[in-house]
Amino acid sequence: MNTLYSFGQFKYLLLSLLLLLLSTSSSPASAYIFSDGEISSRNDLFREILKDEAVARLNELGKVSDADGYLERTFMSPASLRAGNLIRGWMEDAGLRTWVDQLGNLHGRVEGMNASAEALLIGSHLDTVVDAGIFDGSLGIISALSALKVLNDNGTMGKLRRPIEVIAFSDEEGVRFHSTFLGSAALAGVLPVTALQISDKSGVTVQDALKENSLEITEENLLQLKYDPGSVWGYIEVHIEQGPVLEWLGFPLGVVKGIAGQTRLKVTVRGSQGHAGTVPMSMRQDPMAAAAELIVLLESVCKNPKDFLSYDGHCNDISLESLSSSLVCTVGEISTWPSASNVIPGQVTFTVDLRAIDDMGREAVIYELSNQMYKICERRSVSCIIDRKHDANAVVCDSELSSQLKSAAYSALRKMAGDIQDETPTLMSGAGHDAMAMSHLTKVGMLFVRCRGGVSHSPAENVLDEDVWAAGLAILAFLETQL
Ligand code: GLV
Ligand code: MN
Ligand code: MN
Repeated sequence: MNTLYSFGQFKYLLLSLLLLLLSTSSSPASAYIFSDGEISSRNDLFREILKDEAVARLNELGKVSDADGYLERTFMSPASLRAGNLIRGWMEDAGLRTWVDQLGNLHGRVEGMNASAEALLIGSHLDTVVDAGIFDGSLGIISALSALKVLNDNGTMGKLRRPIEVIAFSDEEGVRFHSTFLGSAALAGVLPVTALQISDKSGVTVQDALKENSLEITEENLLQLKYDPGSVWGYIEVHIEQGPVLEWLGFPLGVVKGIAGQTRLKVTVRGSQGHAGTVPMSMRQDPMAAAAELIVLLESVCKNPKDFLSYDGHCNDISLESLSSSLVCTVGEISTWPSASNVIPGQVTFTVDLRAIDDMGREAVIYELSNQMYKICERRSVSCIIDRKHDANAVVCDSELSSQLKSAAYSALRKMAGDIQDETPTLMSGAGHDAMAMSHLTKVGMLFVRCRGGVSHSPAENVLDEDVWAAGLAILAFLETQL
């Protein structure tokens, strides 16, 4: 793969570094890239399980796809079920009792010495985006299972002071239903019952998709899926960073300080369908041209929110400076009807994904953006509907869990590299994670793992085998504090 940054990645690098500067005082560290020989000469460090087997499992899971030639696993798809079966076998191999809940989440649990103590939940998602990389989601599930397998093989699993439950969530990406965190939000008790009736492109609802797989979800049993907060101690998640900061700092692991809030919109623009050869330009109500203008407006607002928002009008309590450094907006999906080269479309729909660390700033942007979009549609005599499909507020990770994860990461890196001078970095996440939904249930903490070039949501996503090992060792060190 070309390791040079493209312009887009370069912009993201700058953004991430800015976020990092806002969130940590660490200075760039020397590169911790380990060679196999170096590490094995110090210690075995459960290499066969935490590295060799974990990497083999990531590769195996990365082949479980609904598509030929690229990775795609959406909520309740045939490949998602196959992936679930594979992971279930690995959960059992780690000595966990397993089950699937009515939202399709896969659970593996060990009770330890006290089944009624508050449980530690560890999770990530088994679904993927379209044309995905193999680490997003899967790395968190597999590193947790590898660490538990080590405890099981050591005979120490029964000595855990509290139950440990690994959860492979059924939907985090929101590709099929445009509503993310279906699985984790249900367990956290924040999935509205109306979510069961959301339809995919073929008109299949969330409820139907579950029913097709013999999972009966009703309004009543959705409420019962919510975990009792009193039964849970906390939630942790390992995830690839999906950005370039750790690589830039030369560190395999980092602790997440907080996660940016996000909103997803679906914009529908309707105009007058007609013949491409006969309707004069001055008489058209073309939703495609209107959509193009709306998308360029979105880009301008998100590049320079200061030009569109004002302190007195929108932002009494928020800092435009911090908004400008974290705001990112994307149109990732667009479709037209009837989609033929000689037809002026009747309708265009597109998605908007909008994220910022500042929730009030995000709201102000959506308010201003919507106003300006409606004005453009009015001027062009097309109709415009803006649906809010998903919202998640920014999340601050728990400081106690974060410092425990920091110590665990430090201990893992020390074991691998010997003496370590630098502090484990702390960084913000621009990407969304199941931890956002789980934060409504319990305290959350996250550990990021370095990835190549900051690339994710792409088949070029890559994590060094040694960094997979480091992640497994860090979770193991964290679990050892629960013995
Ligand atoms: C999840 O990957 C997201 O969209 O942030
Ligand atoms: Mn993702
Ligand atoms: Mn993810």
